[in-house]
Amino acid sequence: MDYTTKIANTTFDHLFINAAGVYCQTAEQLDQIQEAEAVAAVMTKSATAELRLGNQEPRYAAFPDQHNTINSMGLPNLGLDYYLNYVLKSHLKRPTIFSVVGLSQTEIVANLKKLQASNYTGLAELNLSCPNVPGEPQIAYDFQTTDEILKQVFAFYDKPLGIKLPPYFDLAHFDQIAKILNRYPLAYVNSINSVGNGLVIDPKTDKVVMRPKDGFGGLGGAQIKATALANVRALRLRLRPEIKMIGTGGVTCGRDVFDHLLCGADLVSVGSQLAIEGPTVFARLEKELEAIFTEKQITSLDQVCGKLKIF
Ligand code: FUM
Repeated sequence: MDYTTKIANTTFDHLFINAAGVYCQTAEQLDQIQEAEAVAAVMTKSATAELRLGNQEPRYAAFPDQHNTINSMGLPNLGLDYYLNYVLKSHLKRPTIFSVVGLSQTEIVANLKKLQASNYTGLAELNLSCPNVPGEPQIAYDFQTTDEILKQVFAFYDKPLGIKLPPYFDLAHFDQIAKILNRYPLAYVNSINSVGNGLVIDPKTDKVVMRPKDGFGGLGGAQIKATALANVRALRLRLRPEIKMIGTGGVTCGRDVFDHLLCGADLVSVGSQLAIEGPTVFARLEKELEAIFTEKQITSLDQVCGKLKIF
């Protein structure tokens, strides 16, 4: 299968990227991803201006079924300069996507100004959806602030930029966020971040499984697939066709990838299953997807992408 896909100035030859999640913090992890088979691009951990330790441990747990997770990492990252240094390395085998975050509007703008002034010309992603910083809301649930940030950012940022959204649960909210996003020259929308503020209890100890936020954290893995598909589908139907989509959430097997494509994803990102299985997950997913294509006699991505059937 020819997986060639283009977003803005970047051409990808596979479908899979890592989510800016729990397995992309260090150069070693990023190197492992870019060396892995079937990888389209390497996404850096969402960077704040300075190094950030994140929340106290334990802050991540995989469920016994090995297909679901909860995390409250709290954006541990090595700082913007560290990741800038990484993506500017000349020997990288894969394209990169530079994930940017900020704990205030001022920090977001300052971080993107730094990226704008740098030699980095690849894709960047603005993360407005982390649920795990104590005391901080998920920005993209506040439509007015999201609009203000995008207005401020696109007044100076002229390199390709995508946005990472939290899950929405009301059709009216899909209408509202899409109306805002359609006003800006976004390269893509990445949907969804983890489903915020779930709670998992260990039956052996009757205790929450993570320390930060008294156990509340972002859910990932199989349990969020239906929510992820609904978000990809609902946004694809509402966004301008020039805005591409990265589908994230609930990807544990080839069928999950196929479903994201049906809903309109151009690329598919993997968070929980990457943390559980490691970077060999991408080759397994591609192999399982190929088997589905063969069985259904599908020879081109155009036959699948956005082709979900309804009654
Ligand atoms: O807590 C975290 O570092 C997660 C980040 C995110 O979901 O964007």
